[in-house]
Amino acid sequence: MKYLSTPIYYPNDRPHIGTAYTTLVADAVARYWRLVGEEVYSVTGVDEYGLKIARAAQDHGMTPQEWVDDIVVRFHETWDLLDMSFDDFIRTTEERHRNTVQPLLQRMYDAGDVYKSHYEGPYCVACEAYYTPEQLVDGLCPVHRRAVEIHAEDNWFFRLSAYGDRLLRHIAAHPEFITPETRRNEVIGFIQQGLDDISMSRSSLTWGIPLPWDPSQVAYVWFDALINYVSAAGFSDDPDRFARQWPIWAHLVGKDILRFHAVYWPAMLMSAGLALPRQVAVHGFLLVGGEKMSKSNATQILPSDLVPTFGSDGYRYHFLRDVSFGPDNNFSWEGMVERYNADLANDLGNLANRVLNIAVTYRQGRVPAVSDPGAPEETALRAAAAEALAALDGFAEFRTKQALDGVWRLFGAANGFVEATAPWKLNKDPDLAGRLDQVLNAALESLRVGAVLISPVMPRAASRLWEMLGLPGGPGDGPLAATGVFGTFPAVTVTKGDPLFPRIEVP
Ligand code: MSP
Repeated sequence: MKYLSTPIYYPNDRPHIGTAYTTLVADAVARYWRLVGEEVYSVTGVDEYGLKIARAAQDHGMTPQEWVDDIVVRFHETWDLLDMSFDDFIRTTEERHRNTVQPLLQRMYDAGDVYKSHYEGPYCVACEAYYTPEQLVDGLCPVHRRAVEIHAEDNWFFRLSAYGDRLLRHIAAHPEFITPETRRNEVIGFIQQGLDDISMSRSSLTWGIPLPWDPSQVAYVWFDALINYVSAAGFSDDPDRFARQWPIWAHLVGKDILRFHAVYWPAMLMSAGLALPRQVAVHGFLLVGGEKMSKSNATQILPSDLVPTFGSDGYRYHFLRDVSFGPDNNFSWEGMVERYNADLANDLGNLANRVLNIAVTYRQGRVPAVSDPGAPEETALRAAAAEALAALDGFAEFRTKQALDGVWRLFGAANGFVEATAPWKLNKDPDLAGRLDQVLNAALESLRVGAVLISPVMPRAASRLWEMLGLPGGPGDGPLAATGVFGTFPAVTVTKGDPLFPRIEVP
């Protein structure tokens, strides 16, 4: 079972291309695993409690519940716009979540890991995070570069300090636990400096989940939010599913929330007696003009700004092909147009157009199912298809760019194949009709394999291409080990339709 999660997002505004990035990678990887034939459970959702949301609601003259009910609609709209295929969408105000948070916190309390103390220190509401004065940069939040507040309360504390050695042992024994390695080293360094206990409740806030042993306090929002991963796995409402689904295969997170997922969260799970995630996979930020794109600066770009021009497929392709999972990546409109025109309009769009056109013109769309004669041209094409299929496994490690590089080498090879075999010349000589059938069959087969391989990334284009190829079922039906192998194109009737990716003209 491949259970994978995105962070649950703060519904203080609609999602932008930065938040959509994590969600998109998770979706493409989920689709990849489904294509392979694995059972998948992919979850996204919203993080609805906490001070930040309570304040956003107040600023808009609404109750927190009214506010989150309103904003959550924008999340669904955005994910629909981008063809996200989640198995579950969790809201932390749901009962299944409360019914999971309370027993888990109680387990931590019963384990002797919770005690009452006084907290006083800087707090960044945008991060919903406590800082030490040393962690601030020029007195400001190191992530948001915004003023912090000083919070002073009697709170319940979690004995994080007791878990440093166990965490280090776990990380050493499971090299795949935090990826990429730079983030793993960062976490090791952080733990080695010594962990402080952390406040895990709030007494001045009511918008949260009450602690079972002290209902006058609510859980600190991260202590409820992280537990969403256990709630969504069915802990309180579907124990059988939970038994199959936990521990999670991978948490996808941005680098700013690494500490929460790779230090606090595993310590909480150890305390509550649950198994640790297989992996926390960490990506960098999307930058616009060199700055982190965020809700609070003027660089915010929404998916709905891009989809009308590029389509959901063009959007998905760009972020999965041009953004490497790991480092920071700069976003540019020009780069996106260039990539679309070169790879989608030209490489794939023209290939499909050309091959389908020839098949319809020379063979009325019906090419016989002649098998590969083993000519050098076909052999090269078959080898490129095998490499593309192998490259797709990059998705298992979030290497979306490398996977797509491999698929595009197949389209390059297929375009080269058409050039080298020149069907328009073969068509002129009736003695070469048999060779023309072979060439057309191989060219169509490369489109079929291509449709399968792009289906996790561009589900719409893959389905349209599949339809034009006249094939039964869909390109995502799998299993990949069978459908992704270059063989003989069946004797079906292909048609030509509108271009898959109309060129974007730059004014
Ligand atoms: N609610 C918490 C997560 C709780 S998970 C138990 C939260 N929410 S968030 O909405 O602020 O951010 C969620 C994710 O969006 C983070 O992984 C963050 O890294 C990502 N991004 C926000 N802006 C981003 C970019 N500009 N670029 C890439 N990802 C960024 O944190």
